Amino acid sequence: MNLGKLGQALTAREVFDLIQDDLEQVEKRITLESVASVDAVTAIGQYLQSSGGKRLRPSLLLLSAKLAGSASPAALQMGAVVEMIHAATLVHDDVIDAAQTRRGRPSTNVKWGNHTCVLAGDWLYMQAFQLALRERNFQILDLLIGLTQMMVEGELLQLERIGRIDVTEADCMELVDRKTACLFSVCATLGALAGGGEAHVQERLGEYAWNLGMAFQLVDDVLDFTAREKTLGKPVGGDLREGKVTLPLVYALECATAEERRLVEVILRERNYEQVPFARILALLEKYRGIERVRERAQAFTDKARLIIGEFPESPYQRALLAATDLITERDH
Ligand code: IPE
Ligand code: IPE
Ligand code: MG
Ligand code: MG
Repeated sequence: MNLGKLGQALTAREVFDLIQDDLEQVEKRITLESVASVDAVTAIGQYLQSSGGKRLRPSLLLLSAKLAGSASPAALQMGAVVEMIHAATLVHDDVIDAAQTRRGRPSTNVKWGNHTCVLAGDWLYMQAFQLALRERNFQILDLLIGLTQMMVEGELLQLERIGRIDVTEADCMELVDRKTACLFSVCATLGALAGGGEAHVQERLGEYAWNLGMAFQLVDDVLDFTAREKTLGKPVGGDLREGKVTLPLVYALECATAEERRLVEVILRERNYEQVPFARILALLEKYRGIERVRERAQAFTDKARLIIGEFPESPYQRALLAATDLITERDH
């Protein structure tokens, strides 16, 4: 298969233009459906909705729906559902990680406190499920419930591994899958389903998006070391400071000396960069090609995603999903 024949890659703007009107509809539904009878919950929903965020998950869902048929009312509804589930995971995640910043602003746990955020996250999850339930489709509920359990189990596994240096490549890949790839996959599957695509189309788009999600999270793990805080919207070096050894560091540690290993142990123990500066960790990654190796792994996932999307007949949506693979590996936030 010659991917070159598929024509020039679309830019981010061109991809976005294809779904801009539908995304606006999704936003309207989120606004409408995020009103609770307790003000704090509504405020947390609005705070997150207005703070930016790339809206990747509804975008992926809408493009998949259009590739499979159309951005039906069900697809617009499911676009709101997946963004609300994403928002719920972020509210809970920031409590668990005791985060300070999200999307360039104080995170919700900082503004409203842990207790309120745990409950607001629960409310958001349930509201998303209630929206999904309106479709009266068991396949949708099956997908969303399985997904949520996968993600929650992922957060629990990550908690168990906090502060540990003996993390393996397989451990990291499992978390990347649970944390991000499975939600990406469900977005595309739901999009294909709501757009009227057959089982095979749902499955292939789901596999495409799973690979895309794996690449996205691996790039996220890289950006945690290489980005600037202003662009990323959250502090750089945060993963290690939170006690998380991610894949770039796992690769570096495979080759590191006992002395270098001890440097990482100090940060895992102290949870700051006071004794061992962040630059020392960057030097370690550079020396053992940790970042480069993870980028290569991410590239392999995007290659697979491109191969799958290349099976579909050429159309603007097919080209957009193809372009999404490059946009994700080359992103800076
Ligand atoms: C953040 O996801 C959580 C991860 C899976 C890394 P995004 O990077 O898509 O977050 P927003 O929605 O754009 O803020
Ligand atoms: C992302 O997890 C949240 C989930 C998808 C559950 P992380 O803790 O790794 O991501 P950030 O860095 O807070 O966005
Ligand atoms: Mg976090
Ligand atoms: Mg986390």
